[in-house]
Amino acid sequence: MLTIKKLSKTFYPGTEEENKVFQEFSLDFQENQCTAILGPNGCGKSTLFNLISGKIIQDQGDISLEDFSLSKLNEEDRAKYIGKVNQDPSKGVSPSLTVLENMFIARHKGEKFSLKSLVKKNDIEEIKEELRSLNLNLENKLNTPVKYLSGGQRQSLSLLMATLVQPKVLLLDEHTAALDPKTSRLVMEKTSELIESSSMMTLMITHNLRNAVDFADRVIMLDKGKVIFDLDTKKLSERDLEELYYKNLEKNYNAA
Ligand SMILES: Nc1ncnc2c1ncn2[C@@H]1O[C@H](COP(=O)(O)OP(=O)(O)OP(=O)(O)O)[C@@H](O)[C@H]1O
Ligand SMILES: [Mg+2]
Repeated sequence: MLTIKKLSKTFYPGTEEENKVFQEFSLDFQENQCTAILGPNGCGKSTLFNLISGKIIQDQGDISLEDFSLSKLNEEDRAKYIGKVNQDPSKGVSPSLTVLENMFIARHKGEKFSLKSLVKKNDIEEIKEELRSLNLNLENKLNTPVKYLSGGQRQSLSLLMATLVQPKVLLLDEHTAALDPKTSRLVMEKTSELIESSSMMTLMITHNLRNAVDFADRVIMLDKGKVIFDLDTKKLSERDLEELYYKNLEKNYNAA
């Protein structure tokens, strides 16, 4: 279980631009569960992921995985437990390195190594096998710099790389938002396959309500640093979710 306990984060404290994004925010996520996180722009979704991954440090509160406090680890050490894919297809990969080099780095995440000395023959065979699972023919493009791949190919590669060392938590921050509808669907289907073949817990920020009901087990709406609703998607249609989302959005804005 991933436990977020009384987490507070204020940007620019004590200045005119003070921004209290979270105040004593608590939430739990379960193993084997995919949770979609919805909410308007600027409500704190990516900040929550940055706090979990250690990119940003909270002012107060704790984040723990099972009974182990992640707050003690820096971002690099947390990467062993946490995989992340962002909206920008160039973020999860090193664009000027080849497919093979990127995959190699992902396989050896958290180890000290030099690329030249360590890309071994059996690594290459295993990497090819892993790439084959994407069905994008990337196993035949090992020496292509990643910057020459399409957005969909790069996002699929990022996803594979983020899950290669079997993290306990997978954070997807609008990872299909920059893709055309068909590619977005394909990447979502690959995401679903990867999630189902492991026991990772997945947190998926999305503005796509259909993806939330189709692919997640649970859906949470955040606004103004608070959980607005937290529902099981089993009996929820896209239409129900849309209605609920807009009703709550309106309510929150009228209250502001
Ligand atoms: N590193 C940072 N330094 C200062 N302010 C930040 C930082 N990161 C986020 N913020 C601010 O925190 C608030 C929440 O931002 P965040 O990126 O978490 O929103 P979001 O819910 O992910 O929005 P979107 O849907 O647009 O991606 C915003 O007001 C943003 O300007
Ligand atoms: Mg965001």
